[in-house]
Amino acid sequence: MAIWGLLHLVAAAALVLSCPLAPTSANLEGDALYALRRAVNDPKSVLQSWDPTLVDPCTWFHVTCDADNRVTRLDLGNANLSGSLVPELGKLERLQYLELYMNNLMGCIPKELGGLKSLVSLDLYHNNFSGAIPPSLSNLSNLKFLRLNGNRLTGRIPRELTKLQNLKILDVSNNDLCGTFPTSGPFSKFSEESFKNNPRLEGPELMGFVRYDTRGSCK
Ligand SMILES: *[C@@H]1O[C@H](CO)[C@@H](O)[C@H](O)[C@H]1NC(C)=O
Ligand SMILES: *[C@@H]1O[C@H](CO)[C@@H](O)[C@H](O)[C@H]1NC(C)=O
Ligand SMILES: *[C@@H]1O[C@H](CO)[C@@H](O)[C@H](O)[C@H]1NC(C)=O
Repeated sequence: MAIWGLLHLVAAAALVLSCPLAPTSANLEGDALYALRRAVNDPKSVLQSWDPTLVDPCTWFHVTCDADNRVTRLDLGNANLSGSLVPELGKLERLQYLELYMNNLMGCIPKELGGLKSLVSLDLYHNNFSGAIPPSLSNLSNLKFLRLNGNRLTGRIPRELTKLQNLKILDVSNNDLCGTFPTSGPFSKFSEESFKNNPRLEGPELMGFVRYDTRGSCK
């Protein structure tokens, strides 16, 4: 009996040693990106190299990884993509650059993007995004560049975004935002250029006597 037990142990150890990376352990980041590929229309086939059977997405075009084979950049600006983003993108914990500007993406900005804790740059400008700016973006403590201009975003600018101490560039112009804009924290540096062409946006919040029942209101 003891011999059989030992043999089983040896066999199990041999299996573990011969398969240090079990092929069944799927690549979470590849899966997240492949979910995006399935959710968008890609008339120019820029995502053709995104093969989900590869061990990780690091050889896919427009994807950059670090030395640990974790995704750090997604460069899909001006790629003629349409369709919508997927919540799975929020799993890319080491993503620093999410570049999806100048496409025709629509739908909401997923609140799950607030999970991209390494993100430095979120460029979604010149698309067709609608809905509100998710307050969860205030969790992106490394964020320096936030460009959401040229979409159809509505609602107020979340006050939570004033927590983004590293924010250097903000552009939410050319949307349909309403209410007032914050002036504290990093917002003290931004000029009205960052907010222009939002017909229902009233002005900076410190102008005390803002009348919320006028065009600046968020009904
Ligand atoms: C890509 O989009 C441009 C306009 O942005 C359009 O002129 C062109 O036809 C599109 N190309 C394809 C292959 O869809
Ligand atoms: C933007 O999305 C809306 C639907 O939400 C659609 O009706 C409109 O045609 C889209 N605009 C462009 C330029 O594709
Ligand atoms: C920010 O992250 C914390 C913890 O990760 C979470 O509890 C919180 O709900 C997030 N904030 C927003 C606004 O999503």
